[in-house]
Amino acid sequence: MVDGADTNEDVWKSEDMVAQWVASSADRERGRSHHRRLLADLLPFADDEPFTFVDLGAGTGAATQAVLDRFPRAQAILAEYSPQMTAEGRRALAGYRGRFTYVEFDLAAGQWPAEVPSDVPAVISSLCVHHLSDQRKKDLFAEIWHHLAPGGWYFNYDPVTTDDPVVEAAWRRAGDRQDPEAAAKRQHRSPEEQRRYENHVRYMIPLGPQLDYLRAAGFEAIDVYWKQLDHVIYGGRRPAQAAS
Ligand SMILES: C[S@@+](CC[C@H](N)C(=O)[O-])C[C@H]1O[C@@H](n2cnc3c(N)ncnc32)[C@H](O)[C@@H]1O
Repeated sequence: MVDGADTNEDVWKSEDMVAQWVASSADRERGRSHHRRLLADLLPFADDEPFTFVDLGAGTGAATQAVLDRFPRAQAILAEYSPQMTAEGRRALAGYRGRFTYVEFDLAAGQWPAEVPSDVPAVISSLCVHHLSDQRKKDLFAEIWHHLAPGGWYFNYDPVTTDDPVVEAAWRRAGDRQDPEAAAKRQHRSPEEQRRYENHVRYMIPLGPQLDYLRAAGFEAIDVYWKQLDHVIYGGRRPAQAAS
């Protein structure tokens, strides 16, 4: 975590920042296709089953696309608070017309839009929960639980931190070997990249407390379904039947 004022809205509602982020996203997405596909594969639906899912902090819909591709009869509700990201997403998802809707939702505020049903079979999020304070992460997981139908699943794909400097050094060592440009990028950030980086890590926390928040919310089948260095997919299920 870094100290300082929360700049999240300034970053994600800035035309320039979003334009830069979109321009560099193909590069980042290249290494993520397996992770996106795995998140989709974790959903418990038959290949041709119709269902509706919610993608929180959906951005331009990269996670949504993986689910829509995997399940050709799925419908997406993309929840997003940035008009700039929403506009880019509508363009990016043009080929999926009729299978998605965007709804405005500030995850930091927690007023769920009426368009999100209270009994969805699946909620996903990717690369967004780390932008929320600890309290909001905790509350959000409880709100997700309440919006899931019994037996419904939530999966989150996100970066995490570690409190152990030795582990952090190992993550960095391997990350730098996998991306030979990583060290140079870190050392030569433009002022905008530095602002984005500080915003990126401001509320990022270790994995353990996030699993605790899922437990506290009442999820079962909680697991870290995938992990590589500082990126994870974790999730759980709302119990199919209320505990007696
Ligand atoms: C790094 S992008 C990830 C977008 C997308 N989920 C993906 O996997 O590519 C983070 C997204 O979270 C959104 N976001 C950040 N804070 C938010 C908030 N408080 N409420 C709703 N969306 C938020 C941003 O607008 C942005 O679209």
